Amino acid sequence: MKGLILAGGTATRLFPLTIVTNKHLLPIYDRPMIYYPLETLAGMGIQEVMVIVGGKSVGDVVELLGDGEHFGLRLTYRYQRGALGIAHAIGLARDFVGNDAFCCVLGDNILRGSALAPVAREFEVGPWGAGTLLYRVPDPERFGVAELAADGTVLGFEEKPAVPKSDLIPIGVYFLRPDAFGVIDLLAPSGRGELEITDVLNHYIPGGGLFARRFDGHWADAGTVASLLRAAELASAADEVGELSAPPPRPLA
Ligand code: DAU
Repeated sequence: MKGLILAGGTATRLFPLTIVTNKHLLPIYDRPMIYYPLETLAGMGIQEVMVIVGGKSVGDVVELLGDGEHFGLRLTYRYQRGALGIAHAIGLARDFVGNDAFCCVLGDNILRGSALAPVAREFEVGPWGAGTLLYRVPDPERFGVAELAADGTVLGFEEKPAVPKSDLIPIGVYFLRPDAFGVIDLLAPSGRGELEITDVLNHYIPGGGLFARRFDGHWADAGTVASLLRAAELASAADEVGELSAPPPRPLA
């Protein structure tokens, strides 16, 4: 399986913190934000990763991560012009992905306390077209929101609904195959002018092609000031119980 990290976007919700720098370089506890999604992919056993970069300080992101050797990864980069949406950013990885299944992790998603290698493997060898992890939050209207049948099957996802149909959200971990690029090609921009990942996931639901598992660890995004603080608290709690390995040193020159 290959990996994809999305580190584009404009991060206006974090202004003034992100006026002159890239959100994914901001510190979360003892390391830059983007280290966490890289460690999430490495924890799945993935080695080949593309980082989609965009917005401010792209050169600093590349300087920080280099070729990825210090993470045990092989990194390549692609530039996204504009913040045209998560699905748009994923679409830029078509050539990199080739014929492989892949896992995309959003660059501002912090996960801890759950081994994801078996989940990634289950998707890779299974029949599903696309997948995600569901997590219960107190403020679902900030995210994509799942609508569920009585038996827990996902009926659909809505992006930032005013009236959420549940408190379960798809977190920023997406399991996909090259088939998704054809789906992205046909998407129209949403009301906020973006190609939405929830529309990609929804495409697979009618045919039973959606893989959805509850994420039983702890999760935070770091896209707002409040969630940035919560993400740091998660990382600190992980450190206290010895779950956070030392941050990799600077890349070799
Ligand atoms: O964190 C989980 C949520 O992430 C999901 O529940 C939502 O369904 C999904 O749409 C997304 O919502 P956000 O509004 O929080 O996404 P945001 O615009 O903050 O982007 C998340 C990351 O994706 C961010 O770290 C940068 C990257 N990104 C985003 C956009 C819009 C890109 O690389 N390119 C983009 O064009």
